[in-house]
Amino acid sequence: MLAVHFDQPGGAENLYLKEVAKPCPKEGEVLLKVAASALNRADLLQRQGQYDPPPGTSSILGLEASGHVVELGPGCQGHWKIGDSAMALLPGGGQAQYVTVPEELLMPIPEGLTLPQAAAIPEAWLTAFQLLHLLGHVQAGEFVLIHAGSSGVGTAAIQLTQIAGAIPLVTAGSEHKLQMAEKLGAAAGFNYKEEDFSEATLRFTKGAGVDLILDCIGGSYWEKNVNCLALDGRWILYGLIGGGDVSGPLLSKLLFKRGNLIASLLRSRNKKYKQTLVKTFTEQILPHFSKNSPQRLLPVLDRVYPVTDIQAAHKYMEANRNVGKIVLELPQ
Ligand SMILES: NC(=O)c1ccc[n+]([C@@H]2O[C@H](COP(=O)([O-])OP(=O)(O)OC[C@H]3O[C@@H](n4cnc5c(N)ncnc54)[C@H](OP(=O)(O)O)[C@@H]3O)[C@@H](O)[C@H]2O)c1
Repeated sequence: MLAVHFDQPGGAENLYLKEVAKPCPKEGEVLLKVAASALNRADLLQRQGQYDPPPGTSSILGLEASGHVVELGPGCQGHWKIGDSAMALLPGGGQAQYVTVPEELLMPIPEGLTLPQAAAIPEAWLTAFQLLHLLGHVQAGEFVLIHAGSSGVGTAAIQLTQIAGAIPLVTAGSEHKLQMAEKLGAAAGFNYKEEDFSEATLRFTKGAGVDLILDCIGGSYWEKNVNCLALDGRWILYGLIGGGDVSGPLLSKLLFKRGNLIASLLRSRNKKYKQTLVKTFTEQILPHFSKNSPQRLLPVLDRVYPVTDIQAAHKYMEANRNVGKIVLELPQ
């Protein structure tokens, strides 16, 4: 089969499609013929040699995929049959013509969505869902500050915050991105390049601050985050786009806010955790993607590239140009 490959870590120009062995489903796994996968920041980091896949998992890029079940491994419980269309959360391996998946990590494709749209759901939406609910325990009426509001995860988090009855506020680096976030349901957006988002957030919340921060930026935002965190607020760190170093009185500021700093990585979680996450999301959230849902959720697709354009897709994300997801189509 063809898979996205690089021989050594480095720039996007190192990426190419390589003929590799087709994987074979093990106990409890199915083989998915991949129609589409999507790009994530993690792919850029892995390509640069800064984010190795968890031990025992595929070294091929791709944390999510959609396609059709073509083979059942031994011991499968009959949840899936050959020919079913499905989308999958993966620790890697999605940017290839075939990928093996534990059967519990597959989800049905909501009615009315295409395979490229479905490929844009698993990683971003499951991440946003677990940050908001499993870790953040979001409550109706709370203010939620979502950094990188027009990222793949951000566009999912805005919609999930709204559906939880909470109030999404976002940061982003351009007027266009803020407008897109507001169209998706953000109550307000702040351009972090032009204003101090913590001051703007405090103004918007009449001094109360935000109850929950979904933070994939880290180092460069720490002081502003803690400034606009409400008393007893939860600050969830799930990425380090703005670096991992902190200098200054983080601990004392956090202590006086009685703030909760929680760190999260989904990819390295064990199978049991992911199974529970996928099951809860499938039951509670997937029905809202159907066209008849009164509060319809939509995966936001910026661009769909043929996988042969993998270098261009990486460069586009690296230049921070995408609003929502970048999808890759695999040759059938
Ligand atoms: N922990 C987990 O389990 C988990 C799972 C999934 C994703 N993630 C993380 O979530 C984040 C978003 O992932 P994604 O794939 O959805 O990203 P994405 O679509 O590529 O969006 C990232 C956005 O971050 C903004 N950005 C870039 N540099 C910045 C800076 N220095 N300061 C502030 N904003 C900056 C850019 O938007 P602007 O133009 O607005 O600056 C960029 O478009 C990444 O950090 C990723 O590693 C973590």
